[in-house]
Amino acid sequence: MIRSDIREAAAIDPAAVPQRELYTGAKMPAVGLGTFGSDRVSAQQVAEAVNGAAAAGYRHFDCASVYGNEAEVGASLATILQNGIQREELWITSKLWNDKHGENDVIASCRKSLADLRLDYLDLYLVHWPFPNFHPPNCDVSSRSPDAKPYIHESYMKTWRKMEELVDLGLVRHIGTSNMTIPKLKLVLRDAEVKPAANEMELHPHFQQPELFKFAVDNGIQPIGYCPLGSPGRPDRDRTPEDTAPTEDPVIVKIAQRHGINPAAICIKWAVQRGQTPIPFSVHHYRENLECVTADPLTDEEMREIAALDRDCRLIKGQVFLWKDGQSWEALWDMSGEITPP
Ligand SMILES: NC(=O)c1ccc[n+]([C@@H]2O[C@H](COP(=O)([O-])OP(=O)(O)OC[C@H]3O[C@@H](n4cnc5c(N)ncnc54)[C@H](OP(=O)(O)O)[C@@H]3O)[C@@H](O)[C@H]2O)c1
Repeated sequence: MIRSDIREAAAIDPAAVPQRELYTGAKMPAVGLGTFGSDRVSAQQVAEAVNGAAAAGYRHFDCASVYGNEAEVGASLATILQNGIQREELWITSKLWNDKHGENDVIASCRKSLADLRLDYLDLYLVHWPFPNFHPPNCDVSSRSPDAKPYIHESYMKTWRKMEELVDLGLVRHIGTSNMTIPKLKLVLRDAEVKPAANEMELHPHFQQPELFKFAVDNGIQPIGYCPLGSPGRPDRDRTPEDTAPTEDPVIVKIAQRHGINPAAICIKWAVQRGQTPIPFSVHHYRENLECVTADPLTDEEMREIAALDRDCRLIKGQVFLWKDGQSWEALWDMSGEITPP
């Protein structure tokens, strides 16, 4: 396909997709494609979705080394670039995994992601979790690392200094955090030389995190929302009986009927209009997930109705990061407003 072909094939004009301006002035498309295939979707299928999504108009892709598919996604990115989309038009995020927080591991790990993704630089590189605890991919939530550690700010800042070095080296344009809390972010903001440009966090109508969302926005940190649809395809091991499904919420279903679209699209419209950047994963529905943000916005009344649906229902609880026997997952999220003591 030659350059003009892929542009004509772009079903949705990327210019019609809202953008977020980061504190550097850089612009990030306000919807990205998630690429975590988990147990159900192979690396090859995700890579095909990346190709299809680029043709459909996506320019933002949310990657991570732990997703185990950066090499396949990188082959798709190479094709996309060969076919005429410019590198500057793309927004590519990747993430440092938890077993690579060591001072000698950060730069090497980023270089590995760059090599796999076949890129010279990343637009955004995130510390995936604030805990340096290795656990094998796809392990059960009851799995615990024998070396598990709590959040130790001095250690995190050593990792962060290396993240800052990546910016100095020109390997990444922005650095950011993921799965953070307000007390942890306050310390990072106090001590960082390069401020986090974004925080990736779980965000959907049943888990709106209003305080953390506001804190991020007030501090110039873009909230990127993962599991924006409530992750309906997540493995059974990541489900608990208390979990709820935002796409099945009667209010979301009613609004979807009114707009004549899928409830998932209502979750995405709400996310974009609220001000976060959702990164829905999809190998089947990615086109509609982008198209929905380009027309027919939710009314103020519908936005208020969805705001009232928050159930504080965290789906990704992070149990594998617990560092003490008998702890509950709440300890990871500093529920008291203070960092949970070691
Ligand atoms: N930073 C972190 O710690 C972290 C944690 C979790 C996730 N993430 C990122 O966030 C991304 C999204 O999270 P997620 O994948 O867990 O959950 P999600 O995006 O909420 O849900 C994805 C699921 O929804 C289905 N779906 C998508 N669009 C749909 C539509 N319009 N109608 C019906 N079903 C639809 C997909 O199926 P089809 O494929 O069949 O369309 C897939 O099973 C991940 O891929 C990853 O990039 C980051």
